[in-house]
Amino acid sequence: MNSTYKAFWLEGGDLVVIDQTLLPFKLATKTLKTSADATLAIQDMTVRGAGVIGNVAAFGVYLAARESQGDLEKIKNLAAVVRCARPTAVNLMWAVDRMITVLEKAASKKLDLIEVALKEAIAIADEDVIGTRNIGKFGCELIEAIAKTKPKGEPVNILTHCNAGWLAIVDRGSALAPIYEASDRGLNIHVWVDETRPRNQGANLTAWELGQSKIPHTLIADNTGGLLMQYGKVDLCIVGTDRVTRSGDVANKIGTYLKALAAFDNQVPFYVALPSSTFDMHIVDGLKEIAIETRSADEVLYMQGLQDNGELGKVRVAPLETSALNYGFDITPAKLVTGLITERGICEAAETAISAMFLDLIP
Ligand code: MRU
Repeated sequence: MNSTYKAFWLEGGDLVVIDQTLLPFKLATKTLKTSADATLAIQDMTVRGAGVIGNVAAFGVYLAARESQGDLEKIKNLAAVVRCARPTAVNLMWAVDRMITVLEKAASKKLDLIEVALKEAIAIADEDVIGTRNIGKFGCELIEAIAKTKPKGEPVNILTHCNAGWLAIVDRGSALAPIYEASDRGLNIHVWVDETRPRNQGANLTAWELGQSKIPHTLIADNTGGLLMQYGKVDLCIVGTDRVTRSGDVANKIGTYLKALAAFDNQVPFYVALPSSTFDMHIVDGLKEIAIETRSADEVLYMQGLQDNGELGKVRVAPLETSALNYGFDITPAKLVTGLITERGICEAAETAISAMFLDLIP
């Protein structure tokens, strides 16, 4: 795999992943040896983010091939379990389907399915690397254009939600790819990082990633973005996504829709960055057709963090008798999206524009 930053890598034929549930306080790894390990790692969010979920699912199919000694029917049964690990990010289904299609063809030619599966999973990851580099370049042009309008010394302020960096898609992320590119080009930027309750991917992961790359950033409570936009302190929003419909509706981490509404009200450009594997061309209406994951109420009722004794721990933040609802994602309608930053260029979030740029993806 050719990536610079790695959320996962191969070691002796097994898949090693960074355990994202422990960041930023502990940098630890887990070794996935079976397809069931891959499914669990996706479900318990050891790995997360649409792109990396897809990668781990693809390697999960390779692990399935290994454990079933290349028996296609057994691989398909195990792959079907991996495919259901989480419901919203379409990269998961896309990656498993691509792996199975390739394995079916290889089986008809009597090729070694373990070898073919490994090669294909690596190919998917390598394509992501090229994709995120291109997303970075196209998105950076937007940042560069704003930078030119700024008085000397004033940064371009970019707001992002959740984590759509290299922990979420190799090797530069989607929403963070233009930010990394802008930093490489020496542009003066500053990132507002939404904490992203309930699981705090912004506070735990995005702030950590940006800190590692020495990119100026400020963590804000999820509800702060609207006021910052009213104050004129946000030049543009860039978020990632887990699934985009043929008409440009966007599923992303819960809270994205509210940021898009605030951006619309304040004429702040609101961009969504994605590789083409995140399009779901089978569907049109995001609200009606995208399954929104519901996660454990405990993620809302408790918060995890570093305790004074240096250990990771969790505390309850609501009365013992209070129940909670925990939707993982929401839908931002296409009309609130200024544009889609893809590896092929920037595309209007509308069916005609998407179909024109991604004709080959339409079923
Ligand atoms: O629940 P998560 O952490 O997997 O959600 C991640 C997001 O919502 C990201 O913004 C999205 O996957 C885009 S990053 C490729």
